[in-house]
Amino acid sequence: MCYGIQHTARRFLGRRFRRRIHQAQSFPRTARRTHGTSRTHPAEYTGGGIRSALELGPNIGLNLIALQRLVPGLKATAVEINAKAAEECAKIPDVTVVQDAFLNYKSEETFDLTFTFGVLIIQHPDTLPQMYDLLYKHSNRYILMSEYYNPTPTHVNYRGTQDKMFKRDFAGEFMDRFPDVQLVDYGFFYHRDSIFPADDFNWFLMEKR
Ligand SMILES: C[S@@+](CC[C@H](N)C(=O)[O-])C[C@H]1O[C@@H](n2cnc3c(N)ncnc32)[C@H](O)[C@@H]1O
Repeated sequence: MCYGIQHTARRFLGRRFRRRIHQAQSFPRTARRTHGTSRTHPAEYTGGGIRSALELGPNIGLNLIALQRLVPGLKATAVEINAKAAEECAKIPDVTVVQDAFLNYKSEETFDLTFTFGVLIIQHPDTLPQMYDLLYKHSNRYILMSEYYNPTPTHVNYRGTQDKMFKRDFAGEFMDRFPDVQLVDYGFFYHRDSIFPADDFNWFLMEKR
């Protein structure tokens, strides 16, 4: 999943940067040759404009490590219920971990990006409105969801159980709930991808406008 968020962030930051590169007369020609316009360059991070992030359910924090590689200096907060995972995650520099259930997270802090990766799919559907409210309330700009998509809500058979994992249009429901949120980009991680194999997740990047 680490590669997943890196891939998403690369595309997202890269797209903004490609627009910028034409404007940025000061961008060194050599760097342009080395990295190409579709590659990530440190200058892109300014284009992406992300300096802080909140992840709900980071486990040991692989996504945050990947994000920090793309955005040096990124400060993050993470809410993780699993004590061992939270302890590991808290070892990442510039990451503050709140070891608690999502719905107990009480803060007024906002972040440039709030996101989930493989987390909404395992929440009980009754709690989704509160999860959406958390992602919305704490974002001052972007919201990213990388989850299993299905046009209508459905169960996924997970290790013989029918009530532990779900697929649905999480992002669509989110945008219906918050009309000032618009879709920026979306994509799919395919498990057969030769560079970024992942677990057939769909990602949706949204922005408050
Ligand atoms: C499938 S893992 C995803 C981990 C990470 N996002 C990644 O992409 O590698 C889900 C994580 O969410 C955490 N989690 C699940 N429900 C939670 C809840 N209600 N409150 C806080 N953490 C929760 C789990 O402990 C687990 O670490």
